[in-house]
Amino acid sequence: MEPIVHVKGKVALVTGGAMGIGAACAGTLAAHGARVIVADIAEREARAVAEAIGRDGGSAESMVLDVTQEGDWQRVIDATIARHGGLDVLVNNAGIALVSSLLETSLDDWRRVHAVNLDGVFLGTRFAVDVMRPGGKGGRGGSIINLSSVGGIIGAGGLSAYCSTKGGVRLFTKSVAIEVGKAGYGIRVNSVHPGNTDTPMFRKELKDMLDAGMAGSEEEALQYYMNMQALPEIGRPRDIAAMVLFLASDASRFVTGAEFVVDGGLTAQ
Ligand SMILES: NC(=O)c1ccc[n+]([C@@H]2O[C@H](COP(=O)([O-])OP(=O)(O)OC[C@H]3O[C@@H](n4cnc5c(N)ncnc54)[C@H](O)[C@@H]3O)[C@@H](O)[C@H]2O)c1
Repeated sequence: MEPIVHVKGKVALVTGGAMGIGAACAGTLAAHGARVIVADIAEREARAVAEAIGRDGGSAESMVLDVTQEGDWQRVIDATIARHGGLDVLVNNAGIALVSSLLETSLDDWRRVHAVNLDGVFLGTRFAVDVMRPGGKGGRGGSIINLSSVGGIIGAGGLSAYCSTKGGVRLFTKSVAIEVGKAGYGIRVNSVHPGNTDTPMFRKELKDMLDAGMAGSEEEALQYYMNMQALPEIGRPRDIAAMVLFLASDASRFVTGAEFVVDGGLTAQ
């Protein structure tokens, strides 16, 4: 029997693909046969990810993209269509964290985190639907995967702006899934909700905890995060990438508007 989870020949664009979860998604999709575009503001790191995928025998290239900029999206989508004739998978992964109490959160802070985490997902989804839909420049349908968070399902003190963006991503995803599904576009849209995952973003949170004196050592800080979960370990970026691979593949052809938690049991309680 043929393996049912693969993405052979699909064109997949991963935002924030230069490190962390995005880099793992790019590597995993390429390892399963996709032609990957690693898109990020971090140009050098994105190129390094694409080159590493190439050395492993996969197909990848990097493009500079600031997800908050409509003009950047237009350029990246145009280049993708010119080079590959379409787009099959968009992983809206780029995101930033903001750990800040409500009273310390300025309007600029609030807007910055919404610009990247929510405007970026809106813009990417709109550009992708436009090319994936019948009559679009790709015109062959597709799968859009939006990275939310457990913070898009349950709240967390000190993370109100971040959780606002991730909750927004969750219901934006469902709404677009209904709209494009009923329109008969052949496009599926789903959200993925990681828990504590070992990436540069997570490591920075650990460091901030230590700097704020909230933990005496890195082990203590890690234990704090693991105590939130059922499983006694921190997630790896590839644990999230495995879910993204399933949603990108045709194995999930009947799945849309749904939310997929990958959190070691954090939200089970
Ligand atoms: N790590 C976790 O524990 C965790 C948990 C839940 C959700 N998430 C979500 O998963 C996604 C990836 O997180 P991560 O931990 O890998 O983060 P990370 O900080 O390690 O990597 C994020 C990547 O996004 C890029 N990026 C930031 N702003 C950008 C912009 N404006 N345009 C394009 N690229 C931009 C960065 O350059 C970086 O390469 C984010 O949306 C994050 O909110 C992470």
